[in-house]
Amino acid sequence: MNAPLLRARAHDRILDAIGGTPLVRLSRLRELRGATGVKVYAKLELANPGGSVKDRAAKQMILDAIKEGRLSREKILVDSTSGNTGVAYAMIGAALGLKIELVMPRNVTEPRKRVARAYGAKLTFSDPMEGSDGAIRVVREMVAKDPDRYFYPDQYSNPSNPLAHYLGTGQELLDDLGSELTHFVAGLGTSGTVMGTARRLREAPFPIRCVAVEPSEALHGLEGLKHMASSIVPAIYDPKLPHEIMPVSTEAGWDMADRLAREEGLHVGHSSGANVWAAVEIAKAALAEGRPVCVVAIVADRGDRYFAPMKWEKSYVY
Ligand SMILES: Cc1ncc(COP(=O)(O)O)c(C=O)c1O
Repeated sequence: MNAPLLRARAHDRILDAIGGTPLVRLSRLRELRGATGVKVYAKLELANPGGSVKDRAAKQMILDAIKEGRLSREKILVDSTSGNTGVAYAMIGAALGLKIELVMPRNVTEPRKRVARAYGAKLTFSDPMEGSDGAIRVVREMVAKDPDRYFYPDQYSNPSNPLAHYLGTGQELLDDLGSELTHFVAGLGTSGTVMGTARRLREAPFPIRCVAVEPSEALHGLEGLKHMASSIVPAIYDPKLPHEIMPVSTEAGWDMADRLAREEGLHVGHSSGANVWAAVEIAKAALAEGRPVCVVAIVADRGDRYFAPMKWEKSYVY
C-alpha cells in the first residue's frame, strides 16, 4: 500500500507559512552511509518563505513590537542588513503593509539589493569604505535624530529573536523527534537560533547536547556567523547556554556545502555546510565508540543566495 501523501497546509497569510520546517535525514554522505544507530538530520530552514532561518526572528520581533505599540504603519522599520534578515523584514513588511528601510553599504551585490526592492523596501546606501559598521552608524544616526519616526528592531539585543526559536525551532524538534534527539547543532550569528533553541531543549526531561558552531578564524567566509572573540558580542548571547562551542574552518564549511549539493541533493549556504560538518564530526565520534546518536543540524539558507557573494570580511550579518 502507498504511504499517505503529505498534504500542503492552507494558510491565511504568508506569515503563517513561517516555521514548521521539515527534517531530512542525511544518509548518502560517505561518513554516514550504512551507519546504523547514527542519524543526522538537516532542519530545512531554507523552506521558510523568505528563504532563511531569519524569517522566524523577524516575524517575532515585528509582531511583538506591534503588540507592544512600538511599531505601527505610521512608523518606519529601519535596520542595517543586506543579508537574510533584510529579506525577512522586507517580506513581512510587504505582507503587513509596513514601511521598511534597509541601510547597506553601496557595494553590496546587485542581487541582494534587488530582492529587498522586489518586496518594496526602501534602500539607503552608506559609505562602502566603512563596511557594515558604517551602515550601523547611519541607522543609529537616523534613529537618534528622529526616534518617533523609526522602529529599530536591533536583532542583537532583542529578546524576541531568541524567543522565536524557543517557541518555534526548539519546540518543533521536541515534537518531531522527542526523546530520540541527542544533539542539536547551529551556528552563532546574532546567536538567536542557538540561544532560544538551546533554552527550550534544556527543559526537556532527557539530555540533549547543544553545540554552537563558530568560525575558527576572525577573517572567515562563513556568512551569517560571528567569531565572537573578535566581534561585538550580541547582548542576547549567553556563552553558558550551549554545552559546547565547536570551531569550524571556512574550508570545511564550503566543502561540506558543495558535498551536500552533489551527494544529498541539498544546495545550501556555507554556514549550513559548517553546521552539517560539525554534525558529521559528532556522528563519526559516536560511530567509533558504537554509541547511538540522533543529531539535528540547522540548514539556515539556500546555496543560490551566494552566487554573487559579498566579499569576505569580519562580520556579515549586519
Ligand atoms: C546564513 C545564516 N546562517 C546563520 C545565521 C545565524 O543565525 P542567528 O542570527 O540566529 O545566530 C544567520 C543569521 O543571519 C545567517 O544569515
